[in-house]
Order: sequence, then C-alpha cells, then structure tokens
Amino acid sequence: MGNRLSGKVAVVTGGNRGIGRAIAERLAEEEAAVVVGDVLGEPGTAGGSVEGLVFLPLDVTKEVSVRAFVDEVLQRFGKIDILVNNAGIVIHKSIDEQTVDDWDRLMAVNLRGPFLMTKYVAPEMRRIGSGAIVNIGSVEGFMVNPWHTAYAAAKAGVHGLTLGLAVDLGPDGIRCNTVCPGWIDTDLNRSYVEMHPDRRLIERELGQLHPVGRIGSPKDIANAVLWLASDESSFVSGEMIAVDGARTKKISLPAILDEEYRAKLSKLTL
Ligand SMILES: NC(=O)c1ccc[n+]([C@@H]2O[C@H](COP(=O)([O-])OP(=O)(O)OC[C@H]3O[C@@H](n4cnc5c(N)ncnc54)[C@H](O)[C@@H]3O)[C@@H](O)[C@H]2O)c1
Repeated sequence: MGNRLSGKVAVVTGGNRGIGRAIAERLAEEEAAVVVGDVLGEPGTAGGSVEGLVFLPLDVTKEVSVRAFVDEVLQRFGKIDILVNNAGIVIHKSIDEQTVDDWDRLMAVNLRGPFLMTKYVAPEMRRIGSGAIVNIGSVEGFMVNPWHTAYAAAKAGVHGLTLGLAVDLGPDGIRCNTVCPGWIDTDLNRSYVEMHPDRRLIERELGQLHPVGRIGSPKDIANAVLWLASDESSFVSGEMIAVDGARTKKISLPAILDEEYRAKLSKLTL
C-alpha cells in the first residue's frame, strides 16, 4: 500500500489472529519487517514466514519467554523500532465466581505482559535513540460491561502504564500511546454474541449503540495503530485514543426518549 514504515522493525504480540493479525498485516503493508509473537500455534507457520510476517513463539506472561523472543528478533533483524502490546484475554465472571487464579491469569497476560515486553524492548529502543510503543487498552479502561471487573482493572492498568512509560522513556526518544478499541468483531467477543440465539438481532442492536451505526473491524484498530507507530504522530505521547465509533461519547437515555435517534440509526444498520 505504502512505505510509511520502510526500514522499521515491528513486534506485535498476540498477532496470530484478530486485532493483532490485522495490525501485523497493516504494518507489513507499509513495508515494516513484522515479527508476530503468540502462544497460539499457527499451523505451518510457526517460526516461518507468511504474507511478509515472521511468526515466533511467545508467552508474554513469562519473563524467560519474553527474553528469548526479544533475543531472537534482535538476532534476525538487529533492532526493534515499534512494539505493539496487543495480546489479551477476557474473563466473563462475577466477583463471586472469579477465582484468584482467574484474576492472576488475566493480570499476567493483560498487564504483566506489556510491562515485561517493554522492559526487554525499551533498552534496544534507547540504544538506537528512538521507538514507538503502542498498547492495546480498551474503552473498558474507562467504562465497564457487567462481570468484567478483572478485565477493566487490567485495562485501566494498561492506561496507567502508558502514562508512566511516556514520561519515563520520553527523554530516550521513545513514545508510548494506547489505542482503546470499542466493540470489534473478533473471536474474543464472538462467543459473547453467540450466547444469544439470534446473532443478527444482536449485531443490529450492537450497531445501534454506535453513533456511526456499526461495530468496528480489526482493520479500524490497525489503521490507528499504524498512525501512532509512524513518525506522523511524532509529537503524540501518553495518549489514550478511543477507536469506538463514538459509542462511549453518547450518554444513554431511556429507550422511549431515544426513539428518533435510534430510528435514524436503524436506517444505517438494516
Ligand atoms: N475485540 C474487542 O472488541 C476488543 C475491545 C477492546 C480491546 N480489545 C483488546 O484487543 C486485543 C486483541 O483482542 P482480540 O479481540 O483480537 O482477541 P483474540 O482473542 O482474537 O486474539 C488475542 C491473541 O492474543 C494471543 N495471546 C493470548 N495470550 C497470550 C500470551 N500469554 N502470550 C502471547 N499471546 C497471547 C492469543 O493467542 C490470540 O492470538 C486484546 O488486548 C483485547 O483485550 C479487544
């Protein structure tokens, strides 16, 4: 498509599917060398290359795995310019059902992961005098769905981490920002939609929660990440940017007072 990242080396965690895959492909389209790290085995591609992407095994929760991954990227490519901390999981349980193991596992992937990746990548960025870190937070760092206490706490933590990294690493030429996706159509929340028998109805109603009249696609997030990873955003650091079709900007109203607005939206979502 273009060459906005020509000569750059990018790492994307959790890039074997969903939002991470779209980010990896978008960065590669702009000529970055992209290394995807994931716990999920990609049939036929583990340790290999596909569509310009290199896949390496990575568990972001384990320091030993993160170190080995970063070493391998450096051996192959010599530097890291862009780090996208995307890997994440969700647990949909009430506080009563949630175990300590559930809580610790979610925190390990969603919050320890970005910390560990940054801990091992930042010195390499400092060495070359520049770098862009883009975290994937969530609108659930500001607001929350029912039964998502651990997820919301971890994502709010990612937002705090972003502020701290922007301040601490700014003098080294390293920027850190976070993209906060709204409702994006991926495996992560497909199971949530499929809890209801009428998928089409749910999709239409979800669309109508968004002033733009639709839910998001992984590509919508990838385009925002591309901008934050590129030099076009060189004076932007420490920001949480919602990419959510303005869903979190609309104050909810009782359905009866919102009919006219919903009717207008339904023309978009039919
Ligand atoms: N889908 C949404 O609506 C949405 C909304 C807001 C934020 N997010 C965030 O976007 C990111 C990507 O979500 P998605 O919807 O693409 O999810 P997904 O489940 O489709 O993909 C997540 C990827 O992360 C990988 N992963 C999980 N644990 C890992 C680990 N320990 N080490 C390395 N990789 C690991 C998985 O194997 C998978 O490939 C997550 O951080 C998620 O919280 C998603």
